[in-house]
Amino acid sequence: MRQAGRYLPQFRALRAKYDFLTLCRTPELVAEVTSQPIDYLGVDAAILFCDILVVLDAMDRGLHFDKGVGPVIDRPIHSSEEIAQLHRPDVADSLSYVADGIKACKERISVPLIGFCGAPFTVASYLIEGGGSRDYKRTKQWIFRDPKGLHALLSLLCDVTIDYCKLQIEAGVQALQVFDSWAHLLAQAQFEEFSLHYLKRIVDALRPTGIPVILFCRGSSFFAEQLASLQPAAISIDWSADLSQLSRKLPSNIALQGNLDPDILYADKSTIERECKKLLNGMKDHPGYIFNLGHGLKPDMEPENVRCLVDTVRNS
Ligand code: CP3
Repeated sequence: MRQAGRYLPQFRALRAKYDFLTLCRTPELVAEVTSQPIDYLGVDAAILFCDILVVLDAMDRGLHFDKGVGPVIDRPIHSSEEIAQLHRPDVADSLSYVADGIKACKERISVPLIGFCGAPFTVASYLIEGGGSRDYKRTKQWIFRDPKGLHALLSLLCDVTIDYCKLQIEAGVQALQVFDSWAHLLAQAQFEEFSLHYLKRIVDALRPTGIPVILFCRGSSFFAEQLASLQPAAISIDWSADLSQLSRKLPSNIALQGNLDPDILYADKSTIERECKKLLNGMKDHPGYIFNLGHGLKPDMEPENVRCLVDTVRNS
């Protein structure tokens, strides 16, 4: 799950030497960081080392990652007039470093490689706020003050995202996960209008490629039935739902991924094992179930506890 690498001392050692975007732009380093959790944990698939916000780098919005702050966008968007001046970048050119990173990973890693992107709504919210935000006020204001303008922005980001996913597929990723990390800001009807509509465009555009698409939202417990209506290959469920109960409401041809509360990794090993087994037991009759956390790891989580979790799944 998200930013999984940052709890590993091996990642931090590299990060001390290189700026985040330099890591993303250097294929050998992408392959190195991508393989770190595979080497340490022995998990079944690798998630590409990159970030959902690189599309904003391609759009020349001044993306950088600052220590202790997270992502910063120097040139945020605040009005419809500014949207009209945005352009659709040629991602084959501006994000060629991602394709090169994928190729380097494929040479080095023997497990399947998962590529990813941000959902248009989540990427838009970073672009509007200029980075992370406590209350996402500007984004919510825009929903109510100028929905048409916001749709123009989402539509452009959706086109760029589809181009970007196709670039990753051509370079060799074997599945794609879409992260809608800020979907939980939206009420049900707003979710349909400002997020689901664009997720549908992405899923439909990628269907002919045959590459499985996994949809994750923060709020996917709440929006699961709407996500299922898009018929993605899989839905990744956040940690708030009882997964076995929720699975009964969803079509059986969609794989479910999730959803252990990542904060369990702060507990002792016997608690980790117990909670993990409880989840596995609840999902034992669900074909295609993919064990995962319900959101990201935090930087101060013990690598040993993460390994204990993976070993518990392996041995169950
Ligand atoms: O685990 C991995 O390394 C996989 C690659 C990956 C990263 N970001 C690398 C990263 C993935 C899948 C992401 C997704 C991502 N990025 C999301 C969606 C997932 C989610 O959280 O719901 C979001 C919202 C982002 C945007 C982003 N990037 C934030 C908010 C931050 C700061 C987070 C923090 O608290 O440090 C980043 C930075 C980032 N992306 C790091 C990594 C390894 C940490 C970089 C560092 O400080 O060294």
